[in-house]
Amino acid sequence: MTKPKVLVTRRWPQSVEERMAEVFDLDLNMADKPLSQADLRDAMGRYDAILPTVTDRLPSVVFDAPSPRTRIVANYGVGFAHIDTDAAKTRGITVTNTPDVLSECTADIAMTLMLMVARRAGEGERELRDGKWSGWRPTHMIGTRVSGATLGIIGFGRIGQAMAQRAHHGFGMKIVVQNRSAVPAEILARYNAVQVPTIEDLLPECDFVSLHCPGGAANRHLINSRRLDLMRPGAFLINTARGEVVDEYALAQALWFGTIGGAGLDVFEREPFVPQELMDADNLVLLPHLGSASRETREAMGFRVLDNLTDFFGGRAPRDRVA
Ligand code: DGY
Repeated sequence: MTKPKVLVTRRWPQSVEERMAEVFDLDLNMADKPLSQADLRDAMGRYDAILPTVTDRLPSVVFDAPSPRTRIVANYGVGFAHIDTDAAKTRGITVTNTPDVLSECTADIAMTLMLMVARRAGEGERELRDGKWSGWRPTHMIGTRVSGATLGIIGFGRIGQAMAQRAHHGFGMKIVVQNRSAVPAEILARYNAVQVPTIEDLLPECDFVSLHCPGGAANRHLINSRRLDLMRPGAFLINTARGEVVDEYALAQALWFGTIGGAGLDVFEREPFVPQELMDADNLVLLPHLGSASRETREAMGFRVLDNLTDFFGGRAPRDRVA
């Protein structure tokens, strides 16, 4: 039987690439540079499966390839707002993602950002490495206590809940939740969390706000200047979801004018571009999209894609089908 022809758009952990090469007729992007939309459109005519990542854009024009061959787009990552799933569905192309396996590590990075910005860890490290530390003193680099504070979580899916687990059970934080649908009472009870109807209800109640909702057009600039104004003075915003969820220029203003205490960002609207206004803000911790970047998680994501493909080409429904 001929093996399905599969394109992997970026380099993956070696163990996964090796296993995939045993099962499929595999092409790797050895240069590991993002593919253009023209490359992806061309690939639609040449591969049975395309395995993109967040750095690939697949709008409907990519799915308009003449004589398309691709039957499944199996995304390496949980977020799939970069794929026009309606266009895929219209052409009968299946789309899958990789949920669950990255929830813990992404919540770990959100906690990292929260602790770093509240306790001024980025600023402190810069001062020390720059040779500017003059020694301990009672008034030096005073931050904000995280333990026992109130955390607002916007989007209470798997990653939001993993964040609540850490914050409530590890740091004794009070948890306030905003989510599109009603969260079952037994799930809220695990974290002694309270669900509020709107973001407007949540923001003024919280010392920290962490974003765990999907990206895409529906949530673009969900956090804008009006909502930043609703945050408590001195409160902190954490974004490990998608860059477009936050209006970066409104956030830069809030940081520069001190209307909020600070922010921690792992994702950006036009990655890898980061606006200078953010780069220059001291009360901001910046990470280069590291949410899922642990060896264990990146391998698990790859093997989850492999499971989805194996099911699909074996005639079974892939467990992570999103379109
Ligand atoms: C995800 O899984 O969505 C990560 O952000 C990488 O794409």
